[in-house]
Amino acid sequence: MKQVAVCISGNGSNLQALIDAAASPDYPVNIAHVISNNPEAYGITRAKNAGISVSIVDHKAFSSRQAFDQELDNICQEHAIDIICLAGFMRLLSSWFVSKWHNKILNIHPSLLPAFKGINAIEQAFQAGVKQTGCTVHLVRPAMDEGPVLVQKTIDIEPGDTLEAVKEKMHAIEHTSYIQALEQVATGKYQAR
Ligand code: GRF
Repeated sequence: MKQVAVCISGNGSNLQALIDAAASPDYPVNIAHVISNNPEAYGITRAKNAGISVSIVDHKAFSSRQAFDQELDNICQEHAIDIICLAGFMRLLSSWFVSKWHNKILNIHPSLLPAFKGINAIEQAFQAGVKQTGCTVHLVRPAMDEGPVLVQKTIDIEPGDTLEAVKEKMHAIEHTSYIQALEQVATGKYQAR
């Protein structure tokens, strides 16, 4: 059973999906801890409702990225974490942290990487007029939204779709993608360099 920390900044619907998956005895993961850099994140309530401990690490209280990442590292060690899942975590991690946790950090991004990196990826795809977009769960490397792909799923953008409709479709595929990707890493089925 792998011990997992989930890092969030907001709503935490992906966190909720992982919590729900981990409630099944067959799922090889225990969501051991949640870390939020945003004291207002709704995901904190989700974690508490599930009886999961939470650390609020407000990046504004840290003088440097390295100091913030050092605190994340300390917390993960205190909780004997094996795998870190970034789920709507709006902070870039330093190369030091990413190297230290090589192949043990997952991220989810709402586009078919390498297309539409960065923020507002759903809007970027919508405005570009592409007929398909999707989500990517990948292992984290120091460069933003880069790293070996674990799972990708696609959705169609139909002619009448509003941006809101596309966002709804996106969230539905994100949740199943993250559950599958984390299982691959937790069971060692995915061997990355
Ligand atoms: C998701 O769209 C994810 O792909 C992106 O941030 C969003 C987080 O949503 N990185 P939630 O907080 O899990 O609901």
